[in-house]
Amino acid sequence: MNNPHPTIATRPAAVFDDSRRTAPHVTIRGLTKHYEDTAIYDRFDFDIPRGKLISVFGPNGCGKSTLINMIAGLVPMDDGEVLFDGRPLKQVKFGYVFQNYREALFPWLRAFDNIAYPLKLMGLAKGERDARVERLSTHLGVKIDLALYPYQLSGGQQQLVSIMRALIVEPEILFLDEPFSALDYEMTLFMRDQLQRVFMETATTMVLVSHDLEEAVYLSDYVLLLSRAPARVVEFVPYAAPRPRSDKTISEPDFVATKAHCLRLFQQEVQRG
Ligand SMILES: Nc1ncnc2c1ncn2[C@@H]1O[C@H](COP(=O)(O)OP(=O)(O)OP(=O)(O)O)[C@@H](O)[C@H]1O
Ligand SMILES: [Mg+2]
Repeated sequence: MNNPHPTIATRPAAVFDDSRRTAPHVTIRGLTKHYEDTAIYDRFDFDIPRGKLISVFGPNGCGKSTLINMIAGLVPMDDGEVLFDGRPLKQVKFGYVFQNYREALFPWLRAFDNIAYPLKLMGLAKGERDARVERLSTHLGVKIDLALYPYQLSGGQQQLVSIMRALIVEPEILFLDEPFSALDYEMTLFMRDQLQRVFMETATTMVLVSHDLEEAVYLSDYVLLLSRAPARVVEFVPYAAPRPRSDKTISEPDFVATKAHCLRLFQQEVQRG
């Protein structure tokens, strides 16, 4: 399928052949990382499924951020290999949303220009950059005035701008490290649903670190439960409730059971330490 004007709406899983659809998106093999004498990862293997939203959950300091930072190339690994459909990271367009949106956005650029910034780095002309930001904004139904500067926006609005900046390059994978933890509760609920909407619209593979189990289950197709360091997979817990999920989802038996199951495993892991 060749589309001269790709939008995020036109890159559904349907463009992949069947083998690509079922093959893992990211393969992690033999991942090893030490900080001083402590092994954070020791020959860690894991497959990230394609087009799914997975949450990474585990005890404090077990290595959740380190994991996505190594996959995204922000932190070097000591050993091991991470491949995206068999390709190295440098051939991959990815997005990363940081926890601290206040430091992530450029304060001297309007929201619009913050979002367009990666396109500028890619060398796109201004007309094309503007068109793509407009298209993304319309597509997501964003109601923010993008002519404002970050300091004129609420925390949630700033984080939405960060997410849009990550999406503007049409990443094949999006990493998010506790993206809502600095927001108030109302804004967190709103942002979860925005993220879910983006996920449903784009089918982008997403890896979300969350310290909130309810959020992790609510948003995910799978919860990756990690042990204390050196981190291993305690369980990769599926949660298949239909989307869009809503307030009602949280009181459904399947949600309650999945969350309770994850909590049990988590507590066992915490007690083990
Ligand atoms: N640059 C560093 N130098 C030394 N130790 C580090 C460094 N970065 C992380 N660590 C240690 O590695 C371990 C894993 O850190 P990481 O930030 O990945 O954990 P996390 O699971 O994201 O924790 P949290 O739940 O607090 O966000 C922690 O014990 C941390 O102290
Ligand atoms: Mg962390």
